[in-house]
Amino acid sequence: MEFYDAIKTRHSVRSYTGETVPREALDRIAQAVSAAPSACNIQPWTFRVILNQDLRAAISSVYKAPWLAEAPAIVLCIGNKEAAWKRIEGGSILDMDIGIAMEHLVLAAAAEGLATCWICAFEVKKMSAVAGILPPWEVLAISPLGKARTVPQSPKRKEISELFRVIE
Ligand SMILES: Cc1cc2nc3c(=O)[nH]c(=O)nc-3n(C[C@H](O)[C@H](O)[C@H](O)COP(=O)(O)O)c2cc1C
Repeated sequence: MEFYDAIKTRHSVRSYTGETVPREALDRIAQAVSAAPSACNIQPWTFRVILNQDLRAAISSVYKAPWLAEAPAIVLCIGNKEAAWKRIEGGSILDMDIGIAMEHLVLAAAAEGLATCWICAFEVKKMSAVAGILPPWEVLAISPLGKARTVPQSPKRKEISELFRVIE
């Protein structure tokens, strides 16, 4: 799929068929994650694609949405604050690094004809414990991964002129 088409195709999908995600698609998505830039190339992330039904059920008990439980796979984006580069002022760059890697995953999934939905509205400690992730690693974002049952319209964006300006 052409890059800009993948961007247009991506929506936050909250309705999934149970159809299995092909392994070859997962391999290509993994390559896309690996290509993501990160500060000092530290790559302070690791991803898990959960196919196991019991573990998916446990994760869905922390972020309680029926559509998450429907998906055939759930992606965990796991970050390490201690490893990530620190800004000059001392703050961690982790959220920026994992945001880029996660978006590579989401756009690669769109190029594969697979749907996703970024999810962050969960308790990090609770989700990490359920997923068996130990400090300093934490589950910072998750996403269902699979075929969309219904594809929504994305909500309206701000005017381009408000978001992006070229200064000559
Ligand atoms: C960092 C981040 C966290 C998000 N967390 C959630 C979430 O917890 N639950 C949810 O349903 N959607 C979540 N979303 C999806 C947004 O609501 C969605 O991206 C936004 O409304 C734009 O819609 P679109 O993705 O279809 O273009 C999140 C998106 C981002 C980027």
